[in-house]
Amino acid sequence: MTEILIAPSILSADFAAMGEAVRNLEKWKADWVHCDVMDGEFVPNITFGMPMVEALRRNTKMFLDVHLMIVKPERYVERFVKAGADLVTFHPEASEDPHGTIAKIKAAGAKAGIVLNPDIPCEVAKEFIGEVDLIMLMGVFPGFGGQKFITEVMEKISELKEMTKGTSVLVELDGGVTLDNAPEMKRRGLDVMVAGNAVFKAEDPALAIAGLKA
Ligand code: DX5
Ligand code: ZN
Repeated sequence: MTEILIAPSILSADFAAMGEAVRNLEKWKADWVHCDVMDGEFVPNITFGMPMVEALRRNTKMFLDVHLMIVKPERYVERFVKAGADLVTFHPEASEDPHGTIAKIKAAGAKAGIVLNPDIPCEVAKEFIGEVDLIMLMGVFPGFGGQKFITEVMEKISELKEMTKGTSVLVELDGGVTLDNAPEMKRRGLDVMVAGNAVFKAEDPALAIAGLKA
């Protein structure tokens, strides 16, 4: 079995010191950098856009995992790839043409993925399996870091791993990951784990990352 990848969310980092945050993530041996883009419409919060991704790209060679929580992501995906995103994920219900949006991301040169909110069944992902590189499950309703994991989502990891068996599609989970619930996620075969508060609010973030991986 390959090692699980840890993708700390910079939503939980100090917004006035993002360069330092990504340099720390390299030092702490994180695998990816998870970037939460919110538009104040798809979710009730606003974070940052392409300029932040571009600034991060200038400060790190790490894999940038860009999670779009925006309405009509098709309007912006190419610009996020141009800014330096390695992977762009979006919520299919927010798009007027999810298949076209996936194609656009891939044509621009990045990996593409869809995201399922906690109340959206895994079935919804079926029609996308042949097109995406990754499917991300939300462990919380998106909008804010530091929320409690919705335990019912645990079963969806197994369901999605079964659905994607024999393909190269990765399964990622975002929201509510802790040192306590991480082991069960790994047992269920999760490939990528996002962690905001569990890393950035930890006393020793390097130790937290090692703990999530172990
Ligand atoms: C939720 C975001 C998540 C979140 C993760 O809206 O998409 O990436 O910041 O943070 P934690 O791990 O603290 O739940
Ligand atoms: Zn996210």
